[in-house]
Amino acid sequence: MKNIIIEAPAKINLTLDVKGRRADDYHELVTVMHQVSLLDRIRLEKANEITISSTSTSIPTDENNLAFQAAYLLQQHLGKKEGVKIFIEKHIPVGAGLAGGSADAAAVLLGMNKLYGYDLDYESLWEIAFKLGSDVPFCLGNVSAIAKGRGEQLTPLPAIKELSFLLVKPDFQISTREVFAEFSLDKVKTSPDIDAFLKAWHEYDIIKLANNMANVLETVCIPKYPEIMKIKDEMKWHGALAAIMSGSGPTVLGLFQDQKMLQSAYEGFTKDYKEVFKISSYVRSE
Ligand code: C5P
Repeated sequence: MKNIIIEAPAKINLTLDVKGRRADDYHELVTVMHQVSLLDRIRLEKANEITISSTSTSIPTDENNLAFQAAYLLQQHLGKKEGVKIFIEKHIPVGAGLAGGSADAAAVLLGMNKLYGYDLDYESLWEIAFKLGSDVPFCLGNVSAIAKGRGEQLTPLPAIKELSFLLVKPDFQISTREVFAEFSLDKVKTSPDIDAFLKAWHEYDIIKLANNMANVLETVCIPKYPEIMKIKDEMKWHGALAAIMSGSGPTVLGLFQDQKMLQSAYEGFTKDYKEVFKISSYVRSE
């Protein structure tokens, strides 16, 4: 095998609660992460050096790219010298709360492991993934999960029937680090009810699921960027059962049951926004 193509699906948070700031300055999370059918495609080719190229001009093509760091850490872990030529066909918006960089990094770990036949088990890949970032361990897997701690303590959830979403990313990026730095528990009026969310998940009660979708990081982002609230309101006006910000934003996700409403929301939002995606839950095919 000389090269391999790996899919790197975006992550959305169906509910996100922050329990508090930790001694290491990270925040203790309880969130439900879900992979969706908005994908980057990563082509890896055997090479002596690590190099990156991409269809996007908005991501670094050097060691500042998390995908580069993934290849480098894998080399270090194994004490190997093999490099890799990484090509990123970018579709996931950058700085959007969709873990695009983390998904690409996870795909490099999975892909290099296959390409070179390293045969590293999930635990070893998980360790490297966690060094790269809080969302990378989730991106390694192929199931929805409850994520605790920094986001790395994963409890897989049973698969449910495909969910349909509209994603709208306003024309600006938000830094995750800044959102967490500005987060204050005092501003959270009602915390998401994770138990009610999980009960609805297990019963596949889509209305109750929608009613229990919430993201406390909106308390930081909406006052700063009222456009996020406007998108949420418009999404609900179009018939979304729920509309919340994903991760640290600014992308808003709307959960739809009615495909006609989803289509008309898509048509409405594409008049004003460049990055609008009609998507569903992701099922990994390889
Ligand atoms: O882990 P990652 O590098 O992706 O996180 C980016 C930044 O987001 C961290 O430097 C930290 O400031 C913040 N963060 C946090 N609590 C988490 C995850 C991230 O405060 N659970």
